[in-house]
Amino acid sequence: MPAIKVKKSEAERVKRLLKKIGVYDGKRRPKRSNEHIFLPVLNPQKVRELGFEIVDIELPMRPQRQIYQSLESVLKNKFTEEELKFVRRYDVIGDIAITQIPPEIEHKQKEIVEGLLTVHPFLKVIARKGFHTGAFRIREYSIIWGENRLTTIHKENGVKIKVDLSKVFFNPRMKGERYRLAQLANDGEKILLLFAGVLPYALVLARYKNVSITAVELNKEAVALGIENIELNKHRLKGKIEIIQGDVFAIVPKLGNFDRVISPTPKGVDALNLALKKAEKWVHYYEFVHENELEEFKQRILRECKKLGKECEVKIKKVSDFKPHVYKVCADIKILN
Ligand SMILES: C[S@@+](CC[C@H](N)C(=O)[O-])C[C@H]1O[C@@H](n2cnc3c(N)ncnc32)[C@H](O)[C@@H]1O
Repeated sequence: MPAIKVKKSEAERVKRLLKKIGVYDGKRRPKRSNEHIFLPVLNPQKVRELGFEIVDIELPMRPQRQIYQSLESVLKNKFTEEELKFVRRYDVIGDIAITQIPPEIEHKQKEIVEGLLTVHPFLKVIARKGFHTGAFRIREYSIIWGENRLTTIHKENGVKIKVDLSKVFFNPRMKGERYRLAQLANDGEKILLLFAGVLPYALVLARYKNVSITAVELNKEAVALGIENIELNKHRLKGKIEIIQGDVFAIVPKLGNFDRVISPTPKGVDALNLALKKAEKWVHYYEFVHENELEEFKQRILRECKKLGKECEVKIKKVSDFKPHVYKVCADIKILN
């Protein structure tokens, strides 16, 4: 069976490339040796043209799964269109599903649980989500099925992230953003990560690039998990991560400057001036902005740059919907002088 042999450190990137051009054979399992991984491919000729050497190796078929079904398709006969809008916005974090059940459909909780278990048979916990509260942005959850825990290990972008959802913030939907930033960063950079949480951004950046990251987080529980996460991933990380527990507004002014500053800013906090002050080349600043105020947000950044005597270029990227007409956005700020 055709496959290509790649170094473990390269495997994630090559797999994405193969998937993108439609030549990755997802029906078979990759195989590991000490330092390499054999990735199954579909079109040896096309893969050869990309410069990879084809090897012939036996790779087992994946078991047939029913994961192709979506929760929506499983529930569509029992739920109205309106109800499905709530139900389909769920997250899976490790072996925990987090679902949104407004009071109007509480009486259908049993069907939602059954539907989730059909689509994701590996789940061990299903929890219903409340709101983010307090400075640490922790959500309230009630467990509606399974084991009585909110601790799990989530896998994304080739790293393992241990979380305890009863004590820390974690958002699996930012997976794409973390990968994007890891691709933008260059080997050798000094990076400051504000509001670091359990270190998802830091781990993904350090997984892909040989960077030196200083991460600052106030929540002691998140810092403890962050330290565990560095240990959990130590064999996979190219870069280094140092985590400091404390308030960014007290700690960061005492630190030196950095090539790149990343601020996954908690809602209602303004750390723009702090982030810009500490950055020499790039800032990635997350904020919640109404669609009519995107230009005003950009102008605010440019004014802040000017005050600091910095010339900046700003690009605003919508990252996710927050509520109707309000987006979570990332301002990619390039510092020119
Ligand atoms: C929106 S969450 C982002 C966490 C993490 N970056 C992630 O994406 O999972 C914001 C984080 O900032 C932390 N935080 C809030 N205020 C802080 C402060 N003044 N200094 C340091 N961390 C703070 C919270 O505890 C929380 O972990």
